[in-house]
Amino acid sequence: MDFQLTEDQALLKQTARELAEREIAPKAAELDRQARWPSEVVSQLAELGFLGVAVPSEHGGAGLDHVSYVLAMEEISRACASCGVIMSVNNSLFCDPVLKFGTPAQHAEILAPCARGEKLGSFGLTEPMSGSDAQTMQTVAERRGDTWVLSGSKNFITNGPHADYIIVFAVTDKSGPKVTHTAFIVPLDTPGVSRGHHDEKLGIKAAHSCTVFFENVELPDSARLGEVGAGFKVAMTTLDGGRIGIAAQALGIARAALDKSIAYAKERHAFGKPIAEFQAIQFKLSDMATELDAARLLTLRAAALKDRGQRTSMESAAAKLYASEASTRITHAAIQIHGGYGYTAEYGVERHYRDARITEIYEGTSEIQRIVIASHVLKG
Ligand code: CAA
Repeated sequence: MDFQLTEDQALLKQTARELAEREIAPKAAELDRQARWPSEVVSQLAELGFLGVAVPSEHGGAGLDHVSYVLAMEEISRACASCGVIMSVNNSLFCDPVLKFGTPAQHAEILAPCARGEKLGSFGLTEPMSGSDAQTMQTVAERRGDTWVLSGSKNFITNGPHADYIIVFAVTDKSGPKVTHTAFIVPLDTPGVSRGHHDEKLGIKAAHSCTVFFENVELPDSARLGEVGAGFKVAMTTLDGGRIGIAAQALGIARAALDKSIAYAKERHAFGKPIAEFQAIQFKLSDMATELDAARLLTLRAAALKDRGQRTSMESAAAKLYASEASTRITHAAIQIHGGYGYTAEYGVERHYRDARITEIYEGTSEIQRIVIASHVLKG
């Protein structure tokens, strides 16, 4: 597999890095401390086409590929993991399924404004009592003529407090041996939809999330995304793409921690020399750099296969599993290298450590990724 970047990919990476370093990194600590939604950053991401990177230009997107998306996600998340996940949810969990499963009307009316960043999307699969075991959701949609009536709730909805749309998965048929589900695109200002208070979290504090409630919400059939009964496949296919985005977010967080650790190791002296001259520190930096490279290769491989139109369930799971766990190890080591300063907010590595932790949980825990990988390797 050739990872030589094309001119477009290299340019996009450079643009993302400049935006991240100039506009986002200087305020990332403040965004975290105040848990402030970065509306100005969301607008800047929109202006550069980063909210619809792999959406074709005729549908309002930047018309690039998923490798480009990964490159941009790493740069943005290196500066601010909250900004990274806001971008990732709109790209992977909203625009991608609307592009893939949507009707021409949904492409024109919903996808295009979201890909341009004029509107924001979110994704509602998880419920208070069903996270990993997603099929056991309680939210239901009942068909009454041409109308669907949706009732239930979805929680941990990233972007939920600010989004214009949410893709909701609901049980639509309980009559057979297996319940079946259908996906709907719901405007969040529809009567009967309400949002709970913002979740208080360990990290990614500026990326607000909340519970969204649906009380007898009436939807036209044109709100349906994909076929009746195909909702679980829509969700799983979407997560195959989403997991690549989260792997890229984990890369960005890990790279920030490694870069800071290298700089600190050169500047900090102990026992008469820079700590970078001690093997105890060198070995840590070597392991961090190697794990980051391995994670990046897995992530780029998954993105490149997606660009070829291949199903990437296993490759996406492997990339997310490895990148998220590596990010936790790398940010943990970064705190150790920084010693007491790492534990304080002064160098920002404690923020990276807190931010890394969620990448092992959302869009499928590490345990779920292992289940997905095992099912593929056992199939042979
Ligand atoms: N692509 C297409 N179809 C798929 C698929 C995929 N990747 N994975 C499964 N399917 C299909 C299967 O082929 C099967 O089809 P049939 O019924 O026709 O045979 C059907 O879906 C059911 O598959 P399984 O029997 O494997 O389903 P399961 O109930 O055992 O669950 C699971 C599988 C992998 C555990 C799945 O439930 C899962 O991924 N759970 C984790 C959920 C998750 O990631 N939630 C994250 C929420 S989003 C989020 O975090 C957003 C945020 O805020 C950032």
